[in-house]
Amino acid sequence: MSGNQLDKKSEAWSALFSEPMSDLVKRYTASVDFDKRLWRADIQGSLAHAQMLAAQGVIGAQDLADIQRGMAQITEEIESGRFEWKLELEDVHLNIEARLTQLVGDAGKRLHTGRSRNDQVATDVRLWLRGEVDGLDSLLADMQRALLGVAEAHADTVMPGFTHLQVAQPVSFAHHLLAYVEMFARDGERLADLRKRLNRLPLGAAALAGTSYPLDREAVARTLGFDGVCENSLDAVSDRDFALEFASFASIAMVHVSRLAEELVLWKSQNFDFIDLADRYCTGSSIMPQKRNPDVAELARGKSGRVVGHLMGLITLMKGQPLAYNKDNQEDKEPMFDTVDTLADTLRIMAEMVSGIVVKKVNMEAAALKGYATATDLADYLAKKGLPFRDAHEVVSHVVKLGLQRGVELAALPLPELKAFHPSIEDDVLQVLSLRGSLEARNVRGGTAPQQARLQIERHRARLAG
Ligand code: ARG
Repeated sequence: MSGNQLDKKSEAWSALFSEPMSDLVKRYTASVDFDKRLWRADIQGSLAHAQMLAAQGVIGAQDLADIQRGMAQITEEIESGRFEWKLELEDVHLNIEARLTQLVGDAGKRLHTGRSRNDQVATDVRLWLRGEVDGLDSLLADMQRALLGVAEAHADTVMPGFTHLQVAQPVSFAHHLLAYVEMFARDGERLADLRKRLNRLPLGAAALAGTSYPLDREAVARTLGFDGVCENSLDAVSDRDFALEFASFASIAMVHVSRLAEELVLWKSQNFDFIDLADRYCTGSSIMPQKRNPDVAELARGKSGRVVGHLMGLITLMKGQPLAYNKDNQEDKEPMFDTVDTLADTLRIMAEMVSGIVVKKVNMEAAALKGYATATDLADYLAKKGLPFRDAHEVVSHVVKLGLQRGVELAALPLPELKAFHPSIEDDVLQVLSLRGSLEARNVRGGTAPQQARLQIERHRARLAG
């Protein structure tokens, strides 16, 4: 570095370079346009490093004070939008360091003692992602609360449960929504688990081999709120498992969102007509005046594609990299940033939209009646009276056939005709054939009985409050 003015990156590695970097190469290698997003973490990491250097006697107390003063001014400049980011200075790290040196002179040049951009960037990204992870954790909780809020009102609302998208058995709308609460709860567990491995400090690994300065890595870890340090310097600078784990968590969460979004789209269609969505989540058509399309739900479904794409990108990014740091790693940032932004916005908007959903109970119930949803209940009824289940299954298929021929549901077949199918069919069969009877009967833990749904809701509420 020549003088206090580090204006061109080529000057940073100076002596060995006999020609300037071409504009295309500058643009191709620079990351500042996107990694400036890490500035707060970068300053936070530098301050912790400087504080430790001073405590260890590697730099003087005055140097530390100068660095702190300079960083305070830089923070102010960035926050107010006055900071001048320079493409020539390649990335967020060199931009901030150059400005620091401009402001405080030699102390700025001492900051990088015992450090490399390799352990610096790994630290920055972990710090930044940890903050985002904590934000996403509460968005996942909000999503679950939104679902629970609707579920609470619908423990007794009957809808057809589907397999193969064919009417299968009656379930409550609450029970259906509670399935999604389970999914988002697991996403929260995954997030908490990956946070443990994310929250380790790379600083002190320097370029790849560690450093000869008497650094106190544990002290830096404590200052920055890390649970511990990365134990191998080569691994510390080259590991991006946390990014892969995060992208994989995010992909799974987006797949959950996408499935829910797909159901909202189906349910809102004229053919299902189970729900309506508030106007503010729908858009019209420029040609068909009657349209109110569920665009937000469709986009949530569509955006799962880009998040899964980022997972593929990141995992492929790591595949062929020899130890330790390689410039390839600069490519980890945009997918991570976009993953965080997409997931956060999608969770926010879906939680909002779900809270305001209009539930068309009557239509849901009518749809359940249409598809012989209680045929299994009739078979179970016969089996409980001693008929082997396979035989009961056979008897009921004939009953359904008759219903289809007449165009009526099972409960609408005259009792004497029903009884004719098997001697053990008695008057009490009508209760069994009703949707509500079917629901109530499934009072097993995790089953669709309203009582069970209420227990599920209670359990989730307690978990989310704790
Ligand atoms: N901008 C770089 C990145 O994001 C910082 C680390 C650069 N290290 C290096 N040895 N060139 O990975």
